[in-house]
Amino acid sequence: MESLKLPPLAKASGIVRLPGSKSISNRMLLLAALAKGRTEIRDLLDSDDTRVMLAALAKVGVGVTAIAANAWAVEGCGGAFSVREADLFMGNAGTAIRPLTAALALSGGRYRLSGVARMHERPIGDLVDGLRQIGADIRYLGNEGFPPLEIHPARVELANPIRLRGDVSSQFLTALLMALPLTGQRAVIEMSTELISKPYVEITLNLMARFGVKVEREDWQRFTIPAGQSYLSPGILHVEGDASTASYFLAAGAIGGGPVRVEGVGRASIQGDVKFADALATMGARIEWGENHIEARGPASGGLKAFDLDLNHIPDAAMTLAVVALFADGPCRLRNIASWRVKETDRIAAMAMELKKMGAVVDVSEDAIAVTPAPTFISGAAIDTYDDHRMAMCFSLAALGGVSVTINDPACVNKTFPGYFHAFAEIAAPVIAIDGPSASGKGTVAERVATAFGYHYLDSGSLYRLTALAGLRAGKALDDEAGLATVAASLPARFSAGRIYLDEADVTDAIRTEEISVGASKVAALPAVRAALLDRQRAYRRFPGLVADGRDMASVVFPGAVAKVFLTASAQARAERRYKQLIGKGMPANMHALLQDLQDRDARDAQRSVAPLRQCDDADLVDTTEMDIEAAVAAVMAIARRQGL
Ligand code: DC
Repeated sequence: MESLKLPPLAKASGIVRLPGSKSISNRMLLLAALAKGRTEIRDLLDSDDTRVMLAALAKVGVGVTAIAANAWAVEGCGGAFSVREADLFMGNAGTAIRPLTAALALSGGRYRLSGVARMHERPIGDLVDGLRQIGADIRYLGNEGFPPLEIHPARVELANPIRLRGDVSSQFLTALLMALPLTGQRAVIEMSTELISKPYVEITLNLMARFGVKVEREDWQRFTIPAGQSYLSPGILHVEGDASTASYFLAAGAIGGGPVRVEGVGRASIQGDVKFADALATMGARIEWGENHIEARGPASGGLKAFDLDLNHIPDAAMTLAVVALFADGPCRLRNIASWRVKETDRIAAMAMELKKMGAVVDVSEDAIAVTPAPTFISGAAIDTYDDHRMAMCFSLAALGGVSVTINDPACVNKTFPGYFHAFAEIAAPVIAIDGPSASGKGTVAERVATAFGYHYLDSGSLYRLTALAGLRAGKALDDEAGLATVAASLPARFSAGRIYLDEADVTDAIRTEEISVGASKVAALPAVRAALLDRQRAYRRFPGLVADGRDMASVVFPGAVAKVFLTASAQARAERRYKQLIGKGMPANMHALLQDLQDRDARDAQRSVAPLRQCDDADLVDTTEMDIEAAVAAVMAIARRQGL
């Protein structure tokens, strides 16, 4: 896809399960590769950058095997890599090339490391200088100080401390720290300049400790690795959710009202970027911390406040703040972020250029950016992303300014989160929720409203009907809660061009029989079945928007729906409609029996303990007793338009 046009967005709320942390994933992979024994890494990030690392490790003789979704087994080398000659392509993955360069330089082989054009513009000289001080033989194949590199076997000697610069990238220190235990010798690193992005080094030290290697740290100045330590697999490890990725969703919650909850990071996280939530809090956002989640909402009153912050400790998540600044009540300043200039792109320049497209006034210096938001957002901007995943993710938030935003080259998010735009849609795409009693015409109205807006359509009742049908076909009793929940969790159902398929057989009519209607109402009363269908229903929330029809759409499934409609009509009117429908289809019908049936069903539906039929407090009532379908559609559309859709 060349570009992705996001619709104007007003609200954001929901839950996001974060993909694994890039920083932790690539560090764990390398440490597991150097360790003795087999390590199982669960919840590994699946993205371009981790694939680069996995492919490189496989090439130098490490056994890496996928054992389940996002779970990998790594057979460690117990020291240096076994393959002593390889040509490795590193894409644009800084978290792969830096530590691998150091580990390969101490492995006694001949290796060549290269990447995409941008990678050849990203500095690596400080690391090479550090490694050369202990005798490593590393040669530049292109420009001095930049990849591509060639590594030759060499004898390393650690008599003196390594003097290392820390002000360009903390990854150079991380790379040396992780590789030096390969020598078995005592190693000392002294920073010759101020170390930036310290929390990333903390991740490194934390993970090295889990693999049994201790580092003595004196301030952020001097690091000593005592002699005779080597990595030992800790067995099974879990990767936390990515805290940098969390920033986009937390920001969406702060801007779009929320609550938005990210799962996979929390109070116990070892990633510095969780501190992004504190920065949001200084802007007035309400933040709640859990052990394994963080939740963000907008300010209790008023808008987000302007800020002036030193963001050296969260350089990646700080980019998100630059876009949040568009929503602040005054000029904002992001300071001490010089490292932006050597990332996937020159992020200070790129950010300034694109923020201006949204109407902001932007001033930059070598290590800071000042953003003065415009009173109104410019609509229809086409945002360039510079092959930088974070640019794409950051600027998706600008659509919450109520304007359409086009993201060019949206696939660049694959670097760290291929599913980003789906996840963003699941919290931010507008939802119109429609509920109402049986035969109120909500299905027909919902479908037409969806067509009128060009939105996706979810007929949630059909999922309960499909569960009943699939359950009966699998021989399940209709009160077998656990069995039916399993069926519901993995329904092989597909919706296409107005038809419904189960196991690729057309069941559009089969799920409308009286037997299945009764069955659906039974399975719908089982809490485990409802829970099993929850994620599936939420996955329908896509851009440009969704019309969701059914019982708990406005309350449980999409509580943050922009428009909520309760569609009803008198029992008499509904019975008449059903009567006409049946007669029209040439089926027998009895008006009195139909009315009685509807009244019984209403009573049952209103009284059931699980998801009873009732109008949500914040839903608008549309009584269609005196309306035809066109009038009902118009009434619902008017409600949606009043909400800005
Ligand atoms: O809307 P429908 O008649 O196709 O729904 C089938 C059954 O599922 C009906 O008994 C209501 C129930 N249902 C539910 O409990 N929750 C929903 N979101 C949708 C339908």
